[in-house]
Amino acid sequence: MNRMTIPFVARADYARSADWVAALQRSMPAQRIVAFDQLSQSEKQECTVAIVANPDPQDLASLPALRWVQSVWAGVERLVAQMGSTDISIVRLVDPQLAATMAEAVLAWTLFLHRDMHTYAAQQQQRQWRALDYVRPQQRRVGILGLGSLGEAAAARLVATGFHVSGWSRQRKQITDVACFAGAEQLDFMLAGTDILICLLPLTPHTEGLLDARRLALLPPDASVINFARGQIIDDGALRAALDTGALKHAVLDVFATEPLPPEQWQWQHARVTVLPHCTAPTDMGTASAIVAENIARFLTSGTVPKSIDIERGY
Ligand SMILES: NC(=O)c1ccc[n+]([C@@H]2O[C@H](COP(=O)([O-])OP(=O)(O)OC[C@H]3O[C@@H](n4cnc5c(N)ncnc54)[C@H](OP(=O)(O)O)[C@@H]3O)[C@@H](O)[C@H]2O)c1
Repeated sequence: MNRMTIPFVARADYARSADWVAALQRSMPAQRIVAFDQLSQSEKQECTVAIVANPDPQDLASLPALRWVQSVWAGVERLVAQMGSTDISIVRLVDPQLAATMAEAVLAWTLFLHRDMHTYAAQQQQRQWRALDYVRPQQRRVGILGLGSLGEAAAARLVATGFHVSGWSRQRKQITDVACFAGAEQLDFMLAGTDILICLLPLTPHTEGLLDARRLALLPPDASVINFARGQIIDDGALRAALDTGALKHAVLDVFATEPLPPEQWQWQHARVTVLPHCTAPTDMGTASAIVAENIARFLTSGTVPKSIDIERGY
């Protein structure tokens, strides 16, 4: 088989392009991996696959033979929006290591809320010596929005720790020891019985603003929210109002509508908010490169494009 040239396409200001090219090249020694700006005009005519990290759509448009793009991120909403209606398949990263990293973060921050670490930190500031009542994990109802590759792994980790776990997806799932729900009506029902709500949904036209004032108000008193998916899924004003009144006890936010979170944004200083810098589940370059290499090898031997996202559904 001829050595194929595969471009890595990212924005000019992306700091890790050279690292990605090196890691991908190590995983695919039989192919030639190059940064997009190193491609010759004739090479551009021949590329059938590109590996992408938030690419400029105009760069992709200059590859006339392109059949599919492999993202090195799990969330591809920006790519979907920018590419519009297209015959080019978009393949997102599905990596068991990423799911394990996210499940670890979900467990860590669920325990943070469950064991009232935020309250003890605040009490320390006031030199206040006060032990709160202990609640067993079996008494804590954790609800996960999105039971995909990340949500399902997170659910398993929470179940193993003893939490009472429920989950919501588009199609109803069957997962051992997880109460599974689907559809708008069942979402309302699930929210009413959730003490810690964890968002692991993709951002699509159907999930944008999903957690609005009405739905947040369905959560029981003292409920908390963890958003590890995308900022736009929670209505910002509604979240702030629910935290201001104390209807919501705490929010752990790793993702925001604008990132980095601008210094003037309210979340930084809010006593009921923990701000994280989109750090819960970073892509592991080594494991991701191996998965990308497998996908490309299969395409080269059989012509099969890996499972791609459904543009209509948005994920
Ligand atoms: N913070 C971080 O560091 C970080 C890192 C990686 C990823 N992420 C985010 O995590 C998201 C989820 O990743 P994933 O790999 O788990 O995605 P995935 O495998 O595509 O799973 C998505 C889940 O959401 C459900 N869903 C989608 N639209 C829905 C709707 N309208 N109503 C109800 N359920 C809906 C899907 O339901 P079905 O099962 O019925 O299809 C599925 O269970 C990514 O899109 C990304 O935004 C964040």
